[in-house]
Amino acid sequence: MAANEGVSLGFKIYILLVLTLNATGYILLIRYTRSQSGPLYSSTTTVLLTEISKLLISLLLLIKEHRSVLGMCKDVWNNVITNPRDSFKMCVPSIIYAIQNNLAFVALSNLDAATYQVSYQMKVITTAIFMVIMLNKSLSRTQWVAIVLLFLGVAMVQVESASSNKSTDIHYNYPVGVVCILISCLCSGFAGVYFEKVLKGTDTSLWIRNVQMYLFGIVSGIVAVFSKDGEVILEQGFLHGYNYLVWIIVAMASIGGLYTSIVVKYTDNIIKGFSTAVSIILAAVGSFLLFQKTFGLIFLLGTGLVISAVYLYSLPKPAPAKLASQPKEPV
Ligand code: C5P
Repeated sequence: MAANEGVSLGFKIYILLVLTLNATGYILLIRYTRSQSGPLYSSTTTVLLTEISKLLISLLLLIKEHRSVLGMCKDVWNNVITNPRDSFKMCVPSIIYAIQNNLAFVALSNLDAATYQVSYQMKVITTAIFMVIMLNKSLSRTQWVAIVLLFLGVAMVQVESASSNKSTDIHYNYPVGVVCILISCLCSGFAGVYFEKVLKGTDTSLWIRNVQMYLFGIVSGIVAVFSKDGEVILEQGFLHGYNYLVWIIVAMASIGGLYTSIVVKYTDNIIKGFSTAVSIILAAVGSFLLFQKTFGLIFLLGTGLVISAVYLYSLPKPAPAKLASQPKEPV
């Protein structure tokens, strides 16, 4: 893959670890802030502020790339503003991600963080399905088995890591939470693969694609803010209920989004799923060692499943069957 050139294994491990640790902290913080007493912030404003912050960071990175503000402005003018047809390609994933990012708050207001994290791993399977449908990726039977094993393995590891973290509050509505997760997994698979298809199908740079996506993300975010929380915002202000933890959520969501785009650029969405699974285990091992706990049976079994899944997925694919039925050459 050309995009892989010049990127060391160490760098890939670093971005995947950041992505995983950041996602875990993000989920725990949302759950914590949604279950606190006192005035509750509007989650739609958090999603909107995240899109704005990702847009600003992408523009800063473009300035760094061009080494001038003028260079960035020209790039954005030529590739975003005066190229609406191309820019509109990013409208689809930005709307789907807006739905997904808002649903995370609804799900985590109705479920404990452990159940959320475990069930959200189903996105590995939905992503694989969309890779096959939209990118014509062919997966062998062994690779499908590997993907299902990966889901089961990560789920088991997370069940054990999270069981020591159980919260005591009981404001759960499981059916609502589970439906939100199912829709989120579909959104994650579809938007991730769509983004990869557009990013790798043209020469437009990652940061321009991100600028296009975040601009539409801001529009969808504004629509979500006013359609869901318009009244309460007019009454109590845009930032009602905000404290420093909510700002940390915005920062973590921004870091997570930008790192996701980098991971997809240098690998692909299925490898992203596999690598995050491995870094989830590394992070769990790290925290187990740090807090001097012992590994339970479920954790060890889950780790074994993830390792087997990685091994099975990387096995060479069997040769296509039609080669065997080709006419034999005359002797
Ligand atoms: O759970 P999943 O990996 O699908 O989450 C992807 C997250 O990354 C979403 O919050 C999405 O908004 C964000 N993202 C982004 N920029 C991209 C691709 C995804 O901010 N180019």
